[in-house]
Amino acid sequence: MKAIVLAGGTGSRLYPLTQISSKQLQAVFDKPMIYYPLTVLIASGVSELCIISTPADLPRYRQLLGDGSQWGVVIQYREQARPEGIAQAFLIAADFVGSDDVILMLGDNIFSGGDDFPRAVSGFQGGATIFAYHVKDPERYGVVEFDKSGRAISIEEKPTIPKSSYAVPGVYIYDHSVVDIAKAVKPSARGELEITAVNLEYLRRGTLQVRRLSRGFAWLDAGTSTALHEASSYIEAIERRQGVKIGCPEEAALTRGFLTIKQFEKLITRMPQCEYSEYLSNVSDEWHRLNEGQE
Ligand code: DAU
Repeated sequence: MKAIVLAGGTGSRLYPLTQISSKQLQAVFDKPMIYYPLTVLIASGVSELCIISTPADLPRYRQLLGDGSQWGVVIQYREQARPEGIAQAFLIAADFVGSDDVILMLGDNIFSGGDDFPRAVSGFQGGATIFAYHVKDPERYGVVEFDKSGRAISIEEKPTIPKSSYAVPGVYIYDHSVVDIAKAVKPSARGELEITAVNLEYLRRGTLQVRRLSRGFAWLDAGTSTALHEASSYIEAIERRQGVKIGCPEEAALTRGFLTIKQFEKLITRMPQCEYSEYLSNVSDEWHRLNEGQE
């Protein structure tokens, strides 16, 4: 499975922050926003990634993430000249997807808890898998309606009167036919190639699976200054309480076996002395304790 992270858009709701830096590079507590979706992908065992962003912002992503080899993965980059819709990602990255399955993540979606995504990736058997999350304000999202047996029967993009309280988060798993499906999508009334149109096509074909995310799972929004602040507070509170980091790609790469412990430790030596590198040193100590005798 390959992965696309969509990290473009204008970020106008975060103005003036986004005057100088892309939305998905803003800090969510102690790391750039894009670290969170990247960590989910690495933890799900995906090692071929493509980041899509604006021509102006792409150089900053390259500077931050390089070719991915520091985490034992491969990162490619593609430009989206104008924000013409989430589904456009599949037209821009069609050559990257090729004949593989692909998971698309929106670069501003932050998740914490549970192993729902790694399980969905490893259990993926074609068609499409999307997710549903109970929210108070479904009208702001794609909304999925279920019948009495729990089967998805409709999906609407930002409906005025939502048919359920289940929003579709920005994580979508598709087989390679998504490229042809996206090519056939026509711009919506707001002039975008809607991801909901892609999901509706899979629904029409009878190959759409909608998995409800478990209750303890947190899906955080970082779309406005207030939401960004709240997301940072949430991550800070969990990290302080538990002593583990959320959205740490280095740790996920070690756990997943993309990095050996030697590569992991070398990575730490290249970092400045800071809380982040101290945390990684603790992860390394714990690794040695657990793997004593097996090294
Ligand atoms: O967050 C989940 C929701 O994301 C879904 O429930 C909706 O079905 C889906 O349409 C989308 O809704 P949003 O209104 O949140 O989409 P937005 O236009 O804000 O774009 C989401 C992210 O994707 C944002 O960080 C910018 C990026 N983006 C968006 C578009 C349209 C791009 O990079 N390029 C684009 O062309």
